[in-house]
Amino acid sequence: MAQPVRKAVFPVAGRGTRFLPATKVIPKEMIPIVDKPVIQYAVEEARAAGIEHFIFVISNGKEAIASHFEEHTELEQTLEALGKTAEVSLVRDVTLPHGSLNSVKQEEPLGLGHAVWCARDLVGNQPFAVILPDDMVLSKTPCLKQILDIYADVGGHVVAVEDVSRDKTNKYGILDVTKDMGNLVRARGLVEKPLPENAPSTLAIIGRYVLDPMVFEVLGNHKRGTGDEIQLTDALNSMIQKLPLHGLRFEGLRYDCGSQIGFVEANVAFALAHTEISESIKPLLRKLLNHK
Ligand code: G1P
Repeated sequence: MAQPVRKAVFPVAGRGTRFLPATKVIPKEMIPIVDKPVIQYAVEEARAAGIEHFIFVISNGKEAIASHFEEHTELEQTLEALGKTAEVSLVRDVTLPHGSLNSVKQEEPLGLGHAVWCARDLVGNQPFAVILPDDMVLSKTPCLKQILDIYADVGGHVVAVEDVSRDKTNKYGILDVTKDMGNLVRARGLVEKPLPENAPSTLAIIGRYVLDPMVFEVLGNHKRGTGDEIQLTDALNSMIQKLPLHGLRFEGLRYDCGSQIGFVEANVAFALAHTEISESIKPLLRKLLNHK
């Protein structure tokens, strides 16, 4: 029986240069999709999947990410005095319980594998989840919950996967599939960002992982890979004989908020899925399209 997963790591140290000047002062994860910052969707997904401990791997200037989930007594009191009870709830709902939140700094931008390694002491010796907030998923069951359910059955390492077009394999970690069972696949290898002609498949890792703490040992070797960065994909690949890696073709639609087009697409998709504004957005979108 696999151990329950209670901790999640959120690598959010990136500079967000693709979103300058918006990210000159504000972390890119604090930019809203409809009515909530990107990071809040990731944390809500984790909470809905039973995660109780939240670890942010940040860099200088990104402290606002953790503050967003801490108690803000002064703001609550001000809103209360104004009789704004609905707003008080909005502020309180986003507050994580005392002691459930930690941040650690990644001092140098050495890659995703290095960012995850920075969380080793906070994670300790237990399986843990990793969520890349840029990958936003609209689904019936939270994407992380879907992969945790699979992990409970198969153990080892589990990642969310999606079929991408071959010309995009150089943007993702790609699975070398040994067994395709439909929704679930087993990999015999992984390659980080292969060129289309070298890609072993078109099945790409999406930013949801369940990992074994043994991965910290491998990441601790600080071996550089693609882009001269320490790659999580490479660490998982080197452990694949010992720890089987499964990919889940999750139910739901993924939006890549790390690109400008993906960010706009996510805003529209999440607005259309939003209970309160969905109906008002539809005619607006139609109107805009008719003017093109
Ligand atoms: C990272 C991982 C990659 C994964 C991707 C998912 O790449 O290194 O394996 O497929 O996230 O979004 P990045 O997008 O940070 O370059």
